[in-house]
Amino acid sequence: LPPPNAHPPQHRAAEPLAPGKLANYESQRGAHAYRQDHEQKLHRQLSTRLEKKIYTKLLGDLRCDLVLDLPSGYGRLFPLLREHAPRVIEADWSGSMLALNREEHAGAAFGYLRCSALEIPLPDGAVDLAVSVRLSHHLEQQSDRERHLRELFRVARRGVLLSYFSFHSLKNRLRRLRAPFDKKPPKNTLRTARVRALGTECGFALRAAVPLSRLGSGHVFTFFERA
Ligand SMILES: C[S@@+](CC[C@H](N)C(=O)[O-])C[C@H]1O[C@@H](n2cnc3c(N)ncnc32)[C@H](O)[C@@H]1O
Repeated sequence: LPPPNAHPPQHRAAEPLAPGKLANYESQRGAHAYRQDHEQKLHRQLSTRLEKKIYTKLLGDLRCDLVLDLPSGYGRLFPLLREHAPRVIEADWSGSMLALNREEHAGAAFGYLRCSALEIPLPDGAVDLAVSVRLSHHLEQQSDRERHLRELFRVARRGVLLSYFSFHSLKNRLRRLRAPFDKKPPKNTLRTARVRALGTECGFALRAAVPLSRLGSGHVFTFFERA
């Protein structure tokens, strides 16, 4: 495996996100604020608790050797992923997030990799399981959301765990109904049928798709296994 930063990302990762969003994640202040939010705000704590139940349901007692957590952020999911594999690569575009991650978990990851999720600097089938949580809905273009997913399928040998914002969720339906009045931009969504089709195309079968909450959230967590 390459050491961190051995492959400087070719793709300018700032482009796929709304202006300012990635700069915020890249800044030390933004990275610390993200961690503080998740540690202190009640709705974030609740969401992490719900998510953990979903991971237990999706991954069961899956054991593997090497997991890629991309984007890892400050390592919110690192302890959980370590329960499934002795080696976890924490990867993110933001150097500040990776620094915080390393500090938070005493450098316990197998590696810290700064890279773009649209161009993962790992060979095909390099990891057993590729995990992408809470990135897809930040990618503005459908083509980038699909490109990221294809990259996960490319580097994963056995499984992919992906979260995305569902086009068909109640939250998105309401957003679309209100759009002519409140002029809020549309959410960056994916349709489960499309996600399933991409998986099939890349040799993966969709095993489960679980919403975080049917009413309060549009996030869906999916698990794919190599067919
Ligand atoms: C909402 S956080 C999610 C982090 C982690 N998965 C979690 O659930 O706590 C989004 C992360 O995506 C990273 N990110 C944004 N665009 C990226 C890109 N194009 N490539 C890699 N990482 C990216 C940000 O730096 C940030 O750490």
